Amino acid sequence: MLSPKFQFGAGAIGAFNVILLEHAEALVAGAESAQLPVILQISQNAVSYHGSLKPIALATQAIAQSAAIPAALHLDHAEDQELIRQALDLGFDSVMFDGSHLDYAENVAASKKMADLCKSYNVTIEVELGEVGGKDGVHAPGARTKPAEAKAFVEATGVDLLAVAVGTSHAMTTRDATLDFDLIAELAESVGVPLVLHGSSGVSDADLQRAVRAGMRKVNIATHLNHVFTDSIRSSLASDSALVDPRKYITPARSAVTTETARLLRLLSLSV
Ligand code: G3H
Ligand code: ZN
Repeated sequence: MLSPKFQFGAGAIGAFNVILLEHAEALVAGAESAQLPVILQISQNAVSYHGSLKPIALATQAIAQSAAIPAALHLDHAEDQELIRQALDLGFDSVMFDGSHLDYAENVAASKKMADLCKSYNVTIEVELGEVGGKDGVHAPGARTKPAEAKAFVEATGVDLLAVAVGTSHAMTTRDATLDFDLIAELAESVGVPLVLHGSSGVSDADLQRAVRAGMRKVNIATHLNHVFTDSIRSSLASDSALVDPRKYITPARSAVTTETARLLRLLSLSV
């Protein structure tokens, strides 16, 4: 089922990645300032970075639960089925099972198994068909999801959202990806569940709105906000070589992410 916190309105909802506690704080502050819902995502890679899911998940969940807007807690790009079980037991609102590295039949079987499990917890499940490259250094902007296959995949698995390959690639630091808008429209028409755009850091503002108008409903952005966060820290450290207290350089970085989050959420909601 689709979480009641997934409120798309006339546009799309922004889904942004939490690596550090300060990301969760900034994302919720940005969403509150825009007065729009937000999805806080913790990826399997971020879990590996921390060594376990629970500490960062519970901290993010506490921030989400005290938000003045709907803030959903989502497990992102989980290939590990045991990690999905942990997220369900911790009370996540939504999980993404990423079987995009599997062949079609294996992806159907594993996605259905995870969809059935999530349904028993009343938790939203997103899966991926047609690999969005870039996560492990593989740059595959040429990958495309086939509409007929996507429709059959959703029907066979019973998932709530589908991540599709339409021209983006993960971890781009330039915003010049070329999207296939006709394909997005065709997928939105045929698939029957909300579509998810991954690797959206590589997409310009104008093309993000065009993708939403064509039918994208959840837009995942991570690298772009990391860029904003790190640029601020880099400039704070460069301007004061005596700076040692992390709060002195993380406070402006967190504020910069808050401001950019609010801007992105307004953009994706099509209210600007
Ligand atoms: O699942 C997360 C996203 O697809 C983020 O990708 O870092 O390229 O924005 P990105
Ligand atoms: Zn992704």
